[in-house]
Amino acid sequence: MSKSKDALTVSRLIKMKERNEKIVMATAYDYPSALLVDAAGVDMILVGDSLGNVVQGRETTLSVTLDQMIYHSEIVARAANRAFVVVDMPFPYCQLGPNDGLRAAARIMQETGADAVKIESGRDRIETVRAIVRAGIPVLGHCGLQPQSVHISGYKVQRDHDRLMDDAEALCDAGVFGILLECVPRESAGEAARKFPVPVIGIGAGNLCDGQVLVFHDYLLYGLKTKEELPKHARSYASIGEIIVQATGQYIKDVRSGSFPSEEESF
Ligand code: KIV
Repeated sequence: MSKSKDALTVSRLIKMKERNEKIVMATAYDYPSALLVDAAGVDMILVGDSLGNVVQGRETTLSVTLDQMIYHSEIVARAANRAFVVVDMPFPYCQLGPNDGLRAAARIMQETGADAVKIESGRDRIETVRAIVRAGIPVLGHCGLQPQSVHISGYKVQRDHDRLMDDAEALCDAGVFGILLECVPRESAGEAARKFPVPVIGIGAGNLCDGQVLVFHDYLLYGLKTKEELPKHARSYASIGEIIVQATGQYIKDVRSGSFPSEEESF
């Protein structure tokens, strides 16, 4: 699908921040989920490596490969009409250094048709961010909790305010078009949103950010998780999992009772 005339771009996203318009981002991993969130009007779609958790059923995101990210992202980018599509750089391409990082980012842009990449980075991996931006690829920096470093940080709120500001500053200096902050105190995120000129998108970062991102399977309860099992920062807006179980149960009953298929459903 080609993009609509009012498709989001880097400059439109920055204008939204300047006008205090909240930016809404959701994850998507396949054609129907991307079509639906785009039709609903989200501004940005993230093809997150969270697909390792919610699509592949793994404990961490570390096993998601570059080829898998490219496979899902090409499908999502084809479905997105208005939303700006960002693709996660999977482990270990944020970590290997500028050459491998740039090669991976170039493959993502060339093979998927997406608009940007996201990199789990702060001052530590800034040379990789710089190399990718220099190559003309828009980068969304991701600091605070970085799930690719979970074996060091754990899935914990990242409370080092000075480090967060330092990481965000390094990302801005390197030329990112936006920063995603994960699991940081609300006041720290608010200060980052006030201080830096690029959109700050939060997840578990409170309401002072320029925008918010949620994981598709979390806000729709798409899976067997209950509301109570969601992370503290996520809100569920529907119980898709329950609807699927109910509908599939009815289908099973109808086949077993002989009421499906009916005469009208037969040739
Ligand atoms: O992979 C992902 O979905 C993320 C979340 C922080 C939104 O990075």
